[in-house]
This record gives sequence, C-alpha cells and structure tokens, in this order.
Amino acid sequence: MSQGLVTAAYIVSALMFILSLAGLSKQESAKAGNWYGVAGMTIALIATILDPKVSGVGYIIVAMVIGAIIGIRLALKVEMTQMPELVAILHSFVGLAAVLVGFNSYFEHHEAAAAAKEALASVNELAMALGGKVEPVNSAMQNIHLTEVFLGVFIGAITFTGSIVAFGKLRGVMSSTPLNIPFKHKLNLLAVVASTVLMIHFVQQGGETWPLIVMTLIAFAFGWHLVASIGGADMPVVVSMLNSYSGWAAAAAGFMLSNDLLIVTGALVGSSGAILSYIMCKAMNRSFISVIAGGFGTDGSSAGSSEEQGEHKETTAEDVAETLKNASSVIITPGYGMAVAQAQYPVAEITQKLRNAGVEVRFGIHPVAGRLPGHMNVLLAEAKVPYDIVLEMDEINDDFPETDVVLVIGANDTVNPAALDDPNSPIAGMPVLEVWNAKEVIVFKRSMNTGYAGVQNPLFFKENSWMLFGDAKASVDNINKAL
Ligand code: TAP
Repeated sequence: MSQGLVTAAYIVSALMFILSLAGLSKQESAKAGNWYGVAGMTIALIATILDPKVSGVGYIIVAMVIGAIIGIRLALKVEMTQMPELVAILHSFVGLAAVLVGFNSYFEHHEAAAAAKEALASVNELAMALGGKVEPVNSAMQNIHLTEVFLGVFIGAITFTGSIVAFGKLRGVMSSTPLNIPFKHKLNLLAVVASTVLMIHFVQQGGETWPLIVMTLIAFAFGWHLVASIGGADMPVVVSMLNSYSGWAAAAAGFMLSNDLLIVTGALVGSSGAILSYIMCKAMNRSFISVIAGGFGTDGSSAGSSEEQGEHKETTAEDVAETLKNASSVIITPGYGMAVAQAQYPVAEITQKLRNAGVEVRFGIHPVAGRLPGHMNVLLAEAKVPYDIVLEMDEINDDFPETDVVLVIGANDTVNPAALDDPNSPIAGMPVLEVWNAKEVIVFKRSMNTGYAGVQNPLFFKENSWMLFGDAKASVDNINKAL
C-alpha cells in the first residue's frame, strides 16, 4: 500500500470516528454510531498493517489474534454491571502502552542521537582543524521529541496506576472511601513540580535516562494517589476523566510514533472524555477542578452514616399491584439494583399493562444511576420501553408532587434526600430525584443496606415510603402476576 493510500485511509477512519461519536450521542442512532466506530477501526488496522513503514507484520498479527481471543472471551463473559470495571482496566492498558511506547521511542532515539553526536564531534574536529565550527542543527527537533517522550510517559503512567485503582474500587477489592493521607494536596503539588523540574533537566541534558525513570516512578505513585483520594460517590467522574487521560496518552503515543491517526483519535477520546467529565460534574454539583485534583477543596472526612434512622414500613407485591391499579400517574426511578436483578423486562411488561389501563407511566433517570453513564437508558431500550416516556432528572423532578406513586427500583443514592438536607453527607450537593414529594413511594430492594456511597437513606423512613423487600426481578414479577 502506498503512503498516499495509507494517509487517505487514515482520513476516512478519522471521519468514521467523528460520525461514531455523533451517532453515540442519541439512543436512536447509537447502534449506527457503534458500527461507524467498528468500520473506522477496521480500516485503521488494515491501513497500519499494510503501511510500507511498518515491519514485523507477522508479530503484529500474532499479537492481534491473541488479543482478540482474550478480548472476545472477556466481552462475552462480562455482565453489563461490570462494564465500568472493564472500561477502567482497558484504560490502564492504554496508559501502559503509552509508557512502553515512550521508553521504546526514547531508547531508539537515544541510540540514534548518540551516533549522530559522535559523527558531529568528528565533523566538528575536522572543521576546527580547518578553522571553523559546525553547529548542531537538529537540537530543536530533538528537544521536541524529548518533551513528547517525557509528557507521553507522564500521562501514560498516571493513567495506568489511576485506572488500576479505579478498577479495584469499582470491583470492590479496594475500599471506596477516599484515602486521606496527611498533606495529600501538597504531595500532589510536589509530584507535579518535581516532574516539571525533571523534564527541564531531561531536555536540557539532551535526554539523560535517570530523570525519565525517576519521573515514571513519581507518576505511577501520583496516579495511584490521585484516584485513591477520591470517594466512591465521585467514581463516575473519575472513570470518564481516566477515559480522557487515556485519550491524551494515546495522542502522545501518536506523536512519538509519528502516527497522525493515533493523534486524531487520541485527541477525540481525550476531549470527549473531558467534556463528559465536565457534564457529569455539573450533574453531580461537583467542582471539575476539585475532582481532577484528587478531591482538592474537600477535606475528605465526610464519611456519612450507614445507621438506620427510624422505623420503616414494609409492603407486599399484591398491595403494590392494588395501589398501582388505583393510581393515575406513576413514575419509575430505576437504579443499579434493577441492572443487577435484570428486572428491566418485567418492568417493561408492567409499564405496558398500566399504560393499557390508562395509567400515565414515566421513567425518571438520574445521570449517574447505575454504574456507567447511560446504564439505565440502555437497559430500558433493551426491554423496548418507548424512548418518549424515559425522561432525564431535570425534565421530571418538578412533577413528583403531582404523582400518585413512585416505584424506586434498586436505586438508593440517586433518590437520597440527605444530598439536599445534610451538608456533611458524602453526596451533599448532588442533585437527586425528589421522589419523596410524590403521594406514595415504594422502594424495591433486598435489605436496609446502603447504596454505593455507603450512606443510609432517610427516604426509607418517611411517612409516605414503603419497602418492598426481595430481588427486584422477583418483586416486579409478583406485581405483574397480581396485575
Ligand atoms: P446505588 O446507590 O448503588 O443503590 C443500588 C441499590 O440497589 C442498593 O441499595 C441495593 O440494596 C439495591 N440492589 C442491589 N441488588 C439488588 C437486587 N438484585 N434487587 C433489588 N435491589 C437490589 O444505586 P443508584 O441509586 O443507581 O446510584 C448509583 C451510585 O453509583 C451513585 O452513588 C453513583 O455515584 C455510583 N456510580 C455511578 C456510576 C455511573 S457513571 N453511573 C459509576 C460508578 C459509581 P440492597 O443491597 O438492599 O438490595
């Protein structure tokens, strides 16, 4: 394949990726968006393999086959609820790849630079003997390259360890409470300052090895600490922020490999991840800077209480069915528990039954309900719930006072009034679905356990709240039968 064709293929791929992002922004076009992405990546892979500059194609193909087998097996096995963990660990691979590309590019260039330096010295000697001096002409290019390597390794190393911590927290193998070591913000600042000084030294000295290695170790520790300092309630933002970092790490690798498509793709992922993080911060009323700086501006001490705060009342599936039959308006607010129970199908069935009986049924979706952005929307779309009755939190929050019944199906933090009433709660300030304003609230869950943020929910003890204990799917199935 000629170089011109490779470039043309890369442009087509980049366009496909842009179309993919545009498609993924709406549920109706999300499938098409996915296909654009697949097509763009296929073209990019073929063009890269056939690029005349690329050697060792046999090794690449073997690595791709092994990677594809592992990837397909994992993707088939992974539950929808484990998706954020998978995404986090994939981000760590991108980070690690950027670190490896950086070191490879450094050593390759280091050897070439040493040979060039030697040649230049002999030319210089000759020129001196003849009464002149030869100036090195490539120092600017070399400085740019060294800076690229340094920044690429720095971003990659932070992304690598940060994503591993995110994976650990989401998987539950690490505590979701924020790590709170003394002087944590000063330590973060120190890591940035030290890395900057090392970069200046690294570039000025024409690429000594030790500053690169010391910075890599600092960046590993920095990435770890940055994410470990963030509490469970802010994890959604962290995952999308690491998504953004992985994009910038890929773009840096693109610069080092002189691969334009990698630069474009990395920049697309980096900027869309940053925009998503910003939108999520706004939705959760969090400061963007505070979250990306490892919880800067918060003292991290607000752990919240998981103790019960009064008496709760229980109800049965039959009673709930009766209440629903007598209601004229119902709002369903699903959460992570609906995903765990896979209750979306019976939920879609009772929705249809109630609508057929003339009851107005709508869904209220919190932006961080579940464990990944759009989690609930995907599940409801899968169960064929019509899009037009699935509303965002802002669109539905004012309607609760005029609603007869709210079914809170496996949601907890996203309907917790403590976010508005308790300034010391870990979720303080986060906008929530104000379900308690409805006439009656039925909460579907298995126990009085807390949600992801680890805080008890005063909603469960309100006058107009009733608990329906049990697996959400079994409970909704029972209501379905009783209807
Ligand atoms: P959560 O606050 O996590 O509450 C889910 C509730 O579902 C739990 O209280 C649990 O109670 C119940 N549950 C679990 N399995 C169940 C089952 N089989 N049947 C019935 N109930 C079940 O969920 P949420 O309201 O959706 O809030 C999301 C939380 O996750 C937020 O704190 C958010 O910050 C965080 N988070 C979100 C994301 C994204 S991007 N959306 C990513 C990471 C973290 P029982 O154990 O008593 O059943």
